[in-house]
Amino acid sequence: MNIKIFDIERDHSPIKTDLLKTFEKVLSSGEYILGKEVRALEEEFAAYVGVKYAAGVASGTDAIKIGGLALGLKAGDKFVTTPNTYIATAMALSEHGLIPRFCDIEEDSCNMDPSALEKLLKTEKDIRLCVPVHLYGQPCPLDEIRDVCARYGVMIMEDACQAHGSRYKDRNVGTMGDVSAFSFYPTKNLGCYGDGGIIVTDNEDVYRKTLVLRAHGQSDRHVHDIQGFVSRLDELQAALLRVKLPFLDEWNIKRRRNASLYDGGLEGLPVKRPAEAPYSYHVYHLYVIAVEDRDALRTYLGEKGIVTLVHYPTPIHLQKVYGHLGYGPGSFPKAEKAARQIISLPLYPSLREDEIAYICRTISEFYGK
Ligand SMILES: Cc1ncc(COP(=O)(O)O)c(C=O)c1O
Repeated sequence: MNIKIFDIERDHSPIKTDLLKTFEKVLSSGEYILGKEVRALEEEFAAYVGVKYAAGVASGTDAIKIGGLALGLKAGDKFVTTPNTYIATAMALSEHGLIPRFCDIEEDSCNMDPSALEKLLKTEKDIRLCVPVHLYGQPCPLDEIRDVCARYGVMIMEDACQAHGSRYKDRNVGTMGDVSAFSFYPTKNLGCYGDGGIIVTDNEDVYRKTLVLRAHGQSDRHVHDIQGFVSRLDELQAALLRVKLPFLDEWNIKRRRNASLYDGGLEGLPVKRPAEAPYSYHVYHLYVIAVEDRDALRTYLGEKGIVTLVHYPTPIHLQKVYGHLGYGPGSFPKAEKAARQIISLPLYPSLREDEIAYICRTISEFYGK
């Protein structure tokens, strides 16, 4: 059996006709940039998440960049995130001269550890922003993080790029930061057909600033008071995302069903399965296990036609680009241990029960069971 790590084409095959019709409609509309499809998606996505405002931008990276700048951050300001995220969480801001700081993770969830955050904020008083990442589709412990940040006067930007539809207690992720960023990268739980992203917030000033920043710093026609960017979500992408948004919850339910099939199939094996925290509605953007003999298991699965990935093999604080920050091996033991042990198994809405059974059987064979 050959099993891909993602299979977007198969996931989308039931709505292919609607997607093609929509493509045709936008093509013949003559309107391709920041038109009615983008406005409609922004309204629909804001309503889905449960916030007042949403602004479409060119990528999740830009959502983080513009979100951070809209909060008033500037070159030289410090922000904190976790080292086991995708590089974009840090690079979107460091690109503009902001300085990344890191804190370690909770071992079970691989998400930001509020006590590690507090330890850092106690010693580095000039950190202005905290960027918790809802990694793999599971929300961070937001009450604790919000409490720590409130005590140290630190703003919050949720990196929800992997967590569309995920909930913390009874609230959707994206509603609990000063601003939040989502990615529409094609493999995400809600993805478009190229790059795309969206910023959400309840703060009208932050929202107005994002609109200016994403369009050349233009506050009125041909009036440019601040440095801005060209970072717009295309009409075509917005229209296609509008076809997909109504299916997001159903797809997340399928992801959760597939995760529980894995949980059952891997029981009793020397494999650490992802733990869903009690406060969490995990949407399994990725199903990530941890094992002692990661590389050997990956090779074995590859030989049996099962594609896997590692998200992410090198924690950000050990990347050369951040060598000047003064971190090194041992700075964040839990994130470093996770990086050595994790494997992302195939998981998507259209993954079949027999495919999951085959993957679990193959892992079991690897362990001689
Ligand atoms: C946690 C996280 N943050 C940020 C990003 C950046 O999003 P994009 O690829 O849309 O720029 C991603 C996407 O891979 C991500 O997974």
